[in-house]
Amino acid sequence: MRTDTPVPVKLSAYAPYPFEIESVTMRFDLDFDTTCVESTLKVKRLDIGDMVLDGVGLVLRSIAIDGHALSEGAYTVSEETLTIHDTPEQFELTIVVENQPRKNSALSGLYVSGGRLCTQCEADGFRRITYWPDRPDVMSRFEVRLEGDKSAFPFLLANGTPGNFGDIDAGRHFAEWDDPHPKPSYLFALCAGNYDVYRDQFTTMGGRHVDLAIHVDKGDADRAAYAMDSLKRSMKWDEDCFGREYDLGVFNIVAVRDFNFGAMENKGLNVFNSAYVLADEASATDMDFEAIESIVAHEYFHNWTGNRITCRDWFQLCLKEGLTVFRDQEFSADMRARAVQRIKDVIRLRARQFAEDGGPLAHAVRPDQYASVDNLYTATVYEKGAELIRMLKTLLGEDVFAAGMDLYFERFDGHAATIEDFYSCFSEVSGRDLTHFMAWYGQPGTPTVKVTHSFDPATGKGKVDFTQSNPTTRVQPAPKPLPIPLKWSLPEAGKAEEVFLLEGEADSISYTVNPNGTRPLLSVNRGFSAPIHLETDHSDEERLNLVRKDTDPFNRWDALQTLLQRELMALAYDGAAAPKASIISAMCAAARSTAQDDPAFAALLLGVPSPIELFQVRTPADPAALAKARKALRSGLIARPEMADFAYGLLEAPAPTPFTPSADQAGIRALRSAAISLLGAANTNVSEKKLEDLFRGATNMTEKLACLRAIGERHGPDAAAFSTFHTAYQDQPLVIDKWFQVAAISAASASHLKSYLAHPDFNLTNPNRVRSLAGVFAMQNLAAFHADDGSGYALIEDIVSRLDRSNPAVAARLITAFEQWRSLEPLARSQAEALLQRLSESDLSKNARDIVSRALANNDENA
Ligand code: TRP
Ligand code: ZN
Repeated sequence: MRTDTPVPVKLSAYAPYPFEIESVTMRFDLDFDTTCVESTLKVKRLDIGDMVLDGVGLVLRSIAIDGHALSEGAYTVSEETLTIHDTPEQFELTIVVENQPRKNSALSGLYVSGGRLCTQCEADGFRRITYWPDRPDVMSRFEVRLEGDKSAFPFLLANGTPGNFGDIDAGRHFAEWDDPHPKPSYLFALCAGNYDVYRDQFTTMGGRHVDLAIHVDKGDADRAAYAMDSLKRSMKWDEDCFGREYDLGVFNIVAVRDFNFGAMENKGLNVFNSAYVLADEASATDMDFEAIESIVAHEYFHNWTGNRITCRDWFQLCLKEGLTVFRDQEFSADMRARAVQRIKDVIRLRARQFAEDGGPLAHAVRPDQYASVDNLYTATVYEKGAELIRMLKTLLGEDVFAAGMDLYFERFDGHAATIEDFYSCFSEVSGRDLTHFMAWYGQPGTPTVKVTHSFDPATGKGKVDFTQSNPTTRVQPAPKPLPIPLKWSLPEAGKAEEVFLLEGEADSISYTVNPNGTRPLLSVNRGFSAPIHLETDHSDEERLNLVRKDTDPFNRWDALQTLLQRELMALAYDGAAAPKASIISAMCAAARSTAQDDPAFAALLLGVPSPIELFQVRTPADPAALAKARKALRSGLIARPEMADFAYGLLEAPAPTPFTPSADQAGIRALRSAAISLLGAANTNVSEKKLEDLFRGATNMTEKLACLRAIGERHGPDAAAFSTFHTAYQDQPLVIDKWFQVAAISAASASHLKSYLAHPDFNLTNPNRVRSLAGVFAMQNLAAFHADDGSGYALIEDIVSRLDRSNPAVAARLITAFEQWRSLEPLARSQAEALLQRLSESDLSKNARDIVSRALANNDENA
């Protein structure tokens, strides 16, 4: 391996910045090729030392203190810094730089997308715009003046509140923006270009009038309606549930097509991946509407959890992200259905975070070192971070949790805070020492809790024994027991839900019920109260009873998942020929009995565990065997007459009309889509004909796409339906992304994707495209990705190598598809290892190198 691995940044090395920048005025002379940026900083010295500013890829035009150009010896420029020696106590620093937006393919800093200028500064993009102490604990008041060509940039947007604007000369104009709230540089944003605008307004609980505007591509304004509605509901919800009011007179959103992530919470000017803004009946699925609602909320909620209170350093990233994910999950639960939301959140957690936590990239929710900040934006920081907040709330109860949040907002408003700061508020309001709980933040790996339930039928006395074990990881070779809040009950014996806190390695609960012969049904980790692997001693019969009778919908669903997972293991590895009839009947009965009142829940009951989840159940994992097992299970389901009756019955009726994106209608469509998906696994002429009819007649994208997926499952991405679909939607990029996704899932092998890779619509510069084709192939089509002949790996290796030169953040993310390599059967394992080895010997970006070297590192190596 190459040895120039960068020196990691360490939490223990934190030191405050020795200067304060009270305010800054920035003047941008906007141009696609060369944008000139002049900043004037009001600086005060706080401590001894040089003033070190970050800056990458900049051309320094001039530098002056209090109006006097600095002599050459007064400062030093290196590849990534500008150091000013011997500064006065208090001074005005003026720096003029140039940068090249059109050449910026990394999509960090100032770049061009769709013929417009936009910025992405989190985590360290601001240093690509100008020299600045680019760290979240340096907060400053920004005043910005944008100047540019009127026809190229009719709209000139930045953070905060608009001020003066007008013409400079016949061809050029300017606009000034003032953000009254001091902020770190990562929240800076500007957008310039021509847009269509969808406008609305909101009046806050304190009576503040807010102008809301969503800026989109020409002709797309109507498709921003749902995002706008989501925004207004988010604003209201944060007032009602957290007492948080918006704090500016304007709130702008800009949608861009080329974006590395989902969206960004820049103060007063959120920038969104257009996939999470634009939606209508004909082009968006219910999942798209749901994602828009939750991401709009997430970014809006950051205004308090992230912006008003920000992070001291990037190690504290979960302070804003875990908390804000928790808040957006709660919002979605209130907007839609709580139990269904919880199940979906857990599916995502298990697929992404458990996989990460069980592999070589495992890291703490608050790591204590990192090599590349972009690679900190993980499922562990976001999703597990949210679970930790949820557990805290479970431990303290609703009222104490709310009091702690209030204190946090009051005490740390305007500050750059730490996890310790956050927890100090909850200790204070609860009077409890939360040090032990905070161990969750430092220890990676998913705990396993084993449950043994004994019962004496003569006396009615029962005992539930819990033991926890925590995996050793490279970062934590000696893990300790964690405090695990387990909600439990005896749903049939009238024992109401309680929280049991498992603190040490082992503990138990005793109970007494009226003796009636058999041990009562035990329901534990209800609502998934802790993010753990749970192993109970339930019999199959007890699990079937949980599916039928548990009063906790999460555990009803989860009991069925456990049963299905066992069937899949038996089919994949133990030579079973077909799934057990009793389980299919239970599944069918449970879905049938909830179909009318809660179709969204019924749809989840019909879901089969995802391939990535199955990877972790038994190792070494054989992707081809698992894919075959899933197929056998799904065909087994639809081959049962009762299930076929149910599925065809659901599809007899037409889809609900007129279309609304409401949770109620989405639930009905989700159940119909689950039925359509089962038809994809049925090998009959009747199902073939039915799918074709449904595909042709579908009036909404949810069902159209469900049909395409089912057709793809049967015939692969060369089926005629794929070209029909492309022809119908070729002018809608977001729909074409879905087309690539379904092709990527459907391909029996990488060779079936040749025509898609060579397709004129495929390009490496658009992250959505790359994720749709390569990301989905590598993360969801596990059989083809891990194919014996190495063709799946070759496809991804080629894309990674090319992409890493232009967009390292997205390339690095794609490499995480190999994070499971140690869990694979020998052939795939050795091929994946060889590939990672090859990558490590090639010329990689810092981001990609970080992933590759951690993926390859030995468990016992202290990296
Ligand atoms: N803070 C963003 C969020 O809401 C994440 C994000 C957007 C991001 N763009 C980014 C993180 C670019 C790193 C780099 O979660
Ligand atoms: Zn976020």
